[in-house]
Amino acid sequence: MQKSQRSNVIVTGGAGFIGSHIVERFIRDGFDVYIVDDLSTGSRDSVSTAAHLCEFSITDDAELLRLFRDVQPTVVSHHAAQASVVGSLDDAESDLKTNGSGLLNVLRSSAEVSVRQFIFPSSCAVFGDVSDAVDEMHPLTPLSPYGISKLAGEHYVRYFAEHFGFSASILRYGNVYGPGQSPHRPCGVASIFADRILNGQPIQLFGDGESVRDYIFITDVIDAHMLAIQHQSDKVSVFNVGSGKGTRLIDLARSIRAESGCTASEAKLFSFVPERRGEARACVLRNSFAIETLGWQPHVDLKEGLRRVLGWLRESDCHCH
Ligand SMILES: NC(=O)c1ccc[n+]([C@@H]2O[C@H](COP(=O)([O-])OP(=O)(O)OC[C@H]3O[C@@H](n4cnc5c(N)ncnc54)[C@H](O)[C@@H]3O)[C@@H](O)[C@H]2O)c1
Repeated sequence: MQKSQRSNVIVTGGAGFIGSHIVERFIRDGFDVYIVDDLSTGSRDSVSTAAHLCEFSITDDAELLRLFRDVQPTVVSHHAAQASVVGSLDDAESDLKTNGSGLLNVLRSSAEVSVRQFIFPSSCAVFGDVSDAVDEMHPLTPLSPYGISKLAGEHYVRYFAEHFGFSASILRYGNVYGPGQSPHRPCGVASIFADRILNGQPIQLFGDGESVRDYIFITDVIDAHMLAIQHQSDKVSVFNVGSGKGTRLIDLARSIRAESGCTASEAKLFSFVPERRGEARACVLRNSFAIETLGWQPHVDLKEGLRRVLGWLRESDCHCH
């Protein structure tokens, strides 16, 4: 593998929804990008041809270390993960293997080659159930194995950054949505609903549809990610990356229906199924710390974001199979 004079970054999970957008932004900003992805949920088609795709699992510590020694990255953006609450409820062990052991391997390799900056995506799932918008200091009581492994991940990142002298940012994302999010996976409710409504199919709402989430558009997340890389701090920083606004599931479904121009009645379109255990009733992220510290600002409101998702689904053949 040829090394270049430019700054090298490694993006784990760079073939996934968020990772592939990060890869594109890094390339646009002039970085040489190396992706580690086992394509378990990601897709080769999402990967920019300007990036180097290394197809193996982060649980393969020897392969990982070889790559890190070869590439000598300055920045590591660790987005490979078992990324779904439902997936973790079905198989907590494999969640822990990827989100725990896999993360440890990535941190060990990062320490070995003295990376400058480490980015770790955490989740609002670390908070558990909350009634009001929470800031970064709110107590952490995760309800699912996914939330628990993300919280453990935060501690591992802090430990390695402090002991091996690299800078780290922990970004607690809200519910990220946008073009590129597959509607054929169990998570990513905005894409799933939009795809089904475009196909004239009914959608299933969990519980009474009253659960509240903080939906944040993908480009706003990428902006926060890139600003976190420029953020200079000796300490490990934790940022909530959300819109600061709570949206009920039923209102999300109504907005998608309205934006899509669908004329089917709610009674025909919406059905209710029992709530999934491990899912919080509500989670909304206060985002003022990221706004003040990083100079970040979310730009895309829910209506506009959903319009872009619908536009993307209409253009792609994603909703046809
Ligand atoms: N999407 C969200 O709303 C959201 C919210 C909070 C946090 N996050 C976090 O952001 C990150 C990316 O999430 P996403 O929504 O893009 O998920 P995704 O499933 O689309 O992407 C994850 C990527 O990691 C890869 N991967 C999984 N296990 C791997 C392994 N063992 N080795 C190598 N690659 C592996 C997958 O193939 C995929 O390309 C995850 O860490 C997730 O926990 C996502």
